[in-house]
Amino acid sequence: MATRFEEDAHAEHQQNGANRAQREADFEKLLSELSAAITRVSVAEIDSEIERWLERIVLATGVDRSTVIQLDRFDGLLYITHVWAREGVTALPPRLRTAPPQEFSWLLDQVNSGRVVVIACMDDLPPEASNTREAFRLVGNKSNLTLPLTVGGVVIGALLFGAVRFEKHWSEQEVQRLKLVAEVIANALERIRGEAEIRRLSEELRRASQIMTMGELTASLAHELNQPLGAILNNAKAARRLLTARTPDLAEVDAALDDIVRDDARAIDIVKNVRAMFQRAEAKMLPVDVRELLLDVARIVTAEARMKDISWRIKLPDSLPLVQGDKTQLTQAVLNLVMNAFDSVCDGDGPREVALRADQEVPNEIRVSVRDSGRGIDAAVMPRLFEPFFTTKPSGMGMGLTIVRSIIENHGGRIWATQNPDRGATLEFVLPVEPSTRDEAAEHSSGQKSRKKGMP
Ligand SMILES: Nc1ncnc2c1ncn2[C@@H]1O[C@H](COP(=O)(O)OP(=O)(O)O)[C@@H](O)[C@H]1O
Ligand SMILES: [Mg+2]
Repeated sequence: MATRFEEDAHAEHQQNGANRAQREADFEKLLSELSAAITRVSVAEIDSEIERWLERIVLATGVDRSTVIQLDRFDGLLYITHVWAREGVTALPPRLRTAPPQEFSWLLDQVNSGRVVVIACMDDLPPEASNTREAFRLVGNKSNLTLPLTVGGVVIGALLFGAVRFEKHWSEQEVQRLKLVAEVIANALERIRGEAEIRRLSEELRRASQIMTMGELTASLAHELNQPLGAILNNAKAARRLLTARTPDLAEVDAALDDIVRDDARAIDIVKNVRAMFQRAEAKMLPVDVRELLLDVARIVTAEARMKDISWRIKLPDSLPLVQGDKTQLTQAVLNLVMNAFDSVCDGDGPREVALRADQEVPNEIRVSVRDSGRGIDAAVMPRLFEPFFTTKPSGMGMGLTIVRSIIENHGGRIWATQNPDRGATLEFVLPVEPSTRDEAAEHSSGQKSRKKGMP
C-alpha cells in the first residue's frame, strides 16, 4: 500500500506533467533570478544564498534533495558544503568532511572527468557502477542527477539532485538548465575561494611584516643550534675517552656515535626550517591573468592605504595577455613592492602617493611598475637594494626585494629600480607573455609605437 507521502508525491508528479509549459517558463525565470541574486550578494552571504536556491530548484524540478560537494585538492577530501532536503527526506549532514567513499568511486570518476551523470532509474547504471547503484539504493535514491562543478576547466566539486519518492525522468532541456545552475554555483564558490585566498595572503603579509628582525632570527637560530652542537661535542669527547681505555667498551662507543648522528640530524632540521621560512612552496606554473592579479593586490592593500592616508592609484589597460607563472608568488612579489612604497611615503612628511601600473610596451612582455612619492633611493643604497638582509629600516629584514627578484627571475623576467625625476622611486619588472597568447599580444600592441627605453 502506498503511504500518504508517496500518494502526495504521485499526485504532485501528475500535476507537474499537466503544467509542463508553465513550469518550464517558471524555471527559466528562476534561473535568471538565481544568477542575478548570486552575483549580487556579498561573499559572506553566498553560502546561505546557495542553500536558499537549492531549495527553490529542488521544489521547481520536483525532486527531493540537493547537495553541493566540494573537492579539496590539497587533502583529497570531499566536503559537503550545501544541502537542502524536503521535510521527511534524509540528507547528508552539511559541513561534513570525508574521504571519498569507495562505493561512489565510479560516480566520482565521472565527475572528475567533467561528465554529467543522469540516472532516471538505478537499473540504468552500467555494470561497473554496481557499487554506486547499491550505495544510492541504501540512501533511498530512485533517480539522481550529478553535475560537475567546474571553474576554468578544473573540477572543484559536484552538484547532486536526488529523487527518493519516485523515479524521475530528466528531460534534455532540464539537464541543460541544471548545467547552467551548476555553472552559476561553481562561479559563486570560486568567489568564496578567491576571497579566502586574499585573506590568506593578507594574513601572510601581516605575518611577514611582523617577522623577527635579523638580529632576533640569528639569536634564536644560535640558541636552537647550541643544544645539538653541544650534545655532539659531549658525545664525541665521551667516545674518545672510551676508546683510550685498555679494553674499550665498543657498545658504549657505538651508542655515543648513534647520539652524534641523531643530534646532527636535528641540527640539519633546524637549519632546514629556517631556510623554509624564506623559501616559497614549489612554484605552480599556470597561465596567470596579470590584470586580475593586480586588481586582487589593489583590493588587498586598499584598506591599509586608507589607514595610512596614502593616495593609492591603479592604472591598467583594458586587457593584458596571460603570463605563465605562479599566481601566489607573483601576487606576493607585487605586494612586497607596494609595501615598500607604502613604507617609503610614510617615512617623512612629504606627499603620500603610490601608483601601480601595468602596460605592454613590447608585444612579448608585460611591464608592472610601482611608483611612489617617498624619499627615493640613495645612490649609495641603489647597488645593494636586492641584496639579502640589506635594509635601511629600523625593524626591516631586508628580504623583501631579494624574494621579489628571485620570483621575477624564476618567471623569466627582470626587475630594476629607478629614482624618479621629481621625487620618490619606481620599482618595475617585466614578465614574458605566455607563448600561446603571444600572437594575440602582438596584435594587441601592434597599434602602439615602440617606446622602449634602455633598461639595465
Ligand atoms: N620604494 C622604495 N623607496 C625607497 N627605498 C626603498 C624602496 N623599496 C625598497 N627600498 C630600500 O630597499 C631596502 C630593502 O627593501 P626590502 O628588501 O623590501 O627590505 P625591508 O623592506 O625589510 O627593508 C629598504 O630597506 C629600503 O632602503
Ligand atoms: Mg620590504
